[in-house]
Amino acid sequence: MKKINVCICIFLGAFFFLSLPALPGQTPGQAIKNERTQWFQDAKFGLFIHWGVYSMLGREEWVRQLCQIPLPEYQYYVDHFNPTLYNPDEWVRLAKEAGVKYIVITSKHHDGFCLFDSKYTDYDIMRSEYGKDALGMLVEACRKQQMPLGFYYSIMDWSHPDYLPRRPWETDRPTRDADFNRYMDYAINQLQELMTKYDPAILWFDGEWEHSNEDQRAKEIGEMLLKMKPNLLINDRLFKREPGFGDFGTPENFIPATGVRNPDGSPRLWEACTTMNFNGWGYNRYETEFHSASQLIRQLIEIASKGGNLLLNVGPMPDGTIQPEFSARLKRMGEWLSENGEAIYETTASVFEKLPFFGRCTVKGNKLYVHVMGWPEDKRILLPGLKTFLKKVYLLKNERTLDFRRTRRGIVISLPDRAPDPDATVVVVELQNPPEITPYEIRPTAGGRIELPVYLADLQSEMGQRAYLDHFYRVTMLTNWQNVNDYPSWEFFVEKTGTYEVQASYASMWGGKSTFAVEIDDLEIPGTTQNSPSVYFPKTFTLGTVDLKEGKHALRFKIKSIANNQALRLEKVILKPL
Ligand code: GLC
Repeated sequence: MKKINVCICIFLGAFFFLSLPALPGQTPGQAIKNERTQWFQDAKFGLFIHWGVYSMLGREEWVRQLCQIPLPEYQYYVDHFNPTLYNPDEWVRLAKEAGVKYIVITSKHHDGFCLFDSKYTDYDIMRSEYGKDALGMLVEACRKQQMPLGFYYSIMDWSHPDYLPRRPWETDRPTRDADFNRYMDYAINQLQELMTKYDPAILWFDGEWEHSNEDQRAKEIGEMLLKMKPNLLINDRLFKREPGFGDFGTPENFIPATGVRNPDGSPRLWEACTTMNFNGWGYNRYETEFHSASQLIRQLIEIASKGGNLLLNVGPMPDGTIQPEFSARLKRMGEWLSENGEAIYETTASVFEKLPFFGRCTVKGNKLYVHVMGWPEDKRILLPGLKTFLKKVYLLKNERTLDFRRTRRGIVISLPDRAPDPDATVVVVELQNPPEITPYEIRPTAGGRIELPVYLADLQSEMGQRAYLDHFYRVTMLTNWQNVNDYPSWEFFVEKTGTYEVQASYASMWGGKSTFAVEIDDLEIPGTTQNSPSVYFPKTFTLGTVDLKEGKHALRFKIKSIANNQALRLEKVILKPL
């Protein structure tokens, strides 16, 4: 008994201080060592499923709030939910085909409807026309196909009589007898029910923003759940996304510029949850915009190169099937992963802080996987500052060996004339020993000119990221720049104090004038877009001058207003000594 208690204490301790602090000299590529979380860290790719009665309305999972639907009217959908074509075995097969290693599904979303048979409420799938435990069926399918399954659970609940506050527009539901603490008893009962009945691998909390940790009894819930299942993983949202809490961070619809760290600077497990489409997580019948499969593959690579997981969402249709836009993209990802999975699964973050070309790196033992996304014009890539002895360099796809040579700046690898896979071609670099790297710094060329291409930038974004890098035959540009919160930033060194001309190379030909600003330290240089030869081909424009002292500086390129859907495609900023 004592032993068990000690174990629980260790697990609980581990829960609150999950990853060990980084040892001095630890490289960014180093793994987080933790037995509980290892499977998750290795998995890299999960499938998120948002499905419930809201799917029937085909206007996202927030539809009840967005369209201000009174509870009695919403009841129609609760009563008539009937996914006659629902086949959970097929969902899991599709996930497997996509190369997905775990699934997380909404057991209860904000509307409060339970996709499982709950003895604590009638507001569940058993009273809908379907009348079968859809969640239980998925649990079974996952068990058969050995697919770890996690449950999303919303603390916010728009239908439970005890949940407070009501939606601001709800005037017909009195709050007089409501008791939030009694609601939390209900939620805790349901969480226990989910654990004992279905034994999930992950509990993925959400909807936690209306109350404090204390009121939501976060600590009590965390401890209770881990007592029930010590190796259960719990996301950070149970603790209001406080840095360092929960097993993993959950950036939503953006990829953090440099990954996610604990408050003490040590690497943290994280999982970016993202949608393939742009409007909503639940089925949206009216959606017309989807990321391309190529973009999704590159997102997965980028996330893996920063040590994270991708939890990619689908919102199945009300009949229980997954729309072709989603399944086609998942299948293409699976195709890519069937050839290149070695470079994703069980890897750790890149050892390079920056790569001087459009590409990313993942690491496994003494192997570096270099994912080349934009084929360079000179058919060469430089691995900057790599000092370790190289055994062999080859293409993952066909094991064709590639020539390389050591230079003062690092290892230069010669690529074939054409990209074997234009989405991302993986070059495997086999090292004699674990990688040793001199940190990368952006410094002037011999003539004193400083070049800041977008692939050397940290792309800063928050929820709702739109901008990403893409390759346009000869050049890599930051494209799809539709959100003013997305911006590239660089740090660079000036070696000679003086005046510099600030130039930007960008493509823009959409008509209308977008405005932007280049911020260099505290100085702001405003600009208005001008036409380049085409939207695929950039031109260099002079924006102004800046006096820079010898030393380190920061530059950010920000969009101020967007005239025609996207402002510009940025290739690079140049500082030319005058
Ligand atoms: C947000 C939304 C919710 C979605 C979730 C996924 O919190 O409110 O609808 O389920 O993000 O991360």
